[in-house]
Amino acid sequence: MKAELDPAAAGDAESLAITRMTSAEIADVTRIERASFTTTWPADAFYNELSTNKLAHYFVGRAGGEIVAYGGIWVIFEDSHVTTIAVDPAHRGKKFGEIMLLHLLDEAIERGASWMTLEVRESNVAAQRLYRKYGFTTVTTRKGYYSDNNENALVMWAGNLKGDLYRARLNALRAGLRAHR
Ligand SMILES: CC(C)(COP(=O)(O)OP(=O)(O)OC[C@H]1O[C@@H](n2cnc3c(N)ncnc32)[C@H](O)[C@@H]1OP(=O)(O)O)[C@@H](O)C(=O)NCCC(=O)NCCS
Repeated sequence: MKAELDPAAAGDAESLAITRMTSAEIADVTRIERASFTTTWPADAFYNELSTNKLAHYFVGRAGGEIVAYGGIWVIFEDSHVTTIAVDPAHRGKKFGEIMLLHLLDEAIERGASWMTLEVRESNVAAQRLYRKYGFTTVTTRKGYYSDNNENALVMWAGNLKGDLYRARLNALRAGLRAHR
């Protein structure tokens, strides 16, 4: 069976097996969502994204068979946008967030994106560090963007995703992740 030949496909405890999110997985995703964000998407929002938004691409990551991460993007011609990304708090610091971001970038590039944007809370240092590792820089600040505490959002951007330089950067980071396992 595939799982025995390829442990990563089954999602062993140390690796993340990424597949497209299905509606059957939304309950697990919202569990992680509630543990990860102060303002959360209801299950309906994920359901609508999966069922009606043709521009949306959502993924879950499994480790040891359990859903421990998810992420999503919109791809509109050359433009891509990270709508969400999170890792179960019990499984953070194991490179799962990084593997998911790399997957979102690969997917966006494959679908023709030349740049990727996202918003991140000014206080969310961990996520910002992850994004900077992948070449994102802050292009502007949206004042009071988050309504729960009026926190500013940094708008981060990575460009020229299809260029040789960025491809080389991704490949080096990908090799680093392999070495980590
Ligand atoms: C941001 C998040 C997805 C990172 O996932 P993770 O699996 O814990 O992170 P990884 O183990 O993959 O770490 C990858 C990189 O992220 C950064 N990072 C992760 N955790 C960090 C921390 N606690 N402090 C500083 N940097 C951190 C580092 O750059 C790290 O690379 P390094 O180990 O080479 O330094 C996770 O913390 C999370 O789910 N947070 C809550 C939801 C959220 O904020 N999502 C982003 C919304 S914009």
